[in-house]
Amino acid sequence: MDTLQTIEQAASSSKNRGEMAHADAVGTVGSDNCGDMLRLWIKFKEEDDGRRVIDKASFQSFGCQTAIAVASLATEMIRGKTASEALALSSEDLAAPLGALPPMKIHCAQLVEEALEAALSPRKSSHPSAISKPSALTLIDQLQAPTGKINIRLTTPPL
Ligand code: FES
Repeated sequence: MDTLQTIEQAASSSKNRGEMAHADAVGTVGSDNCGDMLRLWIKFKEEDDGRRVIDKASFQSFGCQTAIAVASLATEMIRGKTASEALALSSEDLAAPLGALPPMKIHCAQLVEEALEAALSPRKSSHPSAISKPSALTLIDQLQAPTGKINIRLTTPPL
């Protein structure tokens, strides 16, 4: 199976899709290049040893299959990690199970990394459209009330 087939399969069997009630952290980013948007919800729990680790994460995306596949992997990969451990994961780490991404798909994985940063370290987030506060707005609400910082195009998701 080549990388594109792997991405397609990972996107179609993606996990942890949808909004999460009572999340502790939410990060939303949009791509200036392609208009895709991604929101990540994170809930923490405290371990017996006092460490605050990620209990669960979910995502919602108006994006391509690659962004969906990487976001799904990320929500699984960050479970049980502290915020700093999760922030240490690069876009390459998050997309590694898919194989080497084609150059035009690298930004899709970076969008997931940026959403993670927007959720867990909003002050450090370099993404111009990062929104980190838990919001009453759903992603579709936000699409209908754009801030002007995000170029939004609704299309059939490409691979
Ligand atoms: Fe823009 Fe994948 S996130 S094409």
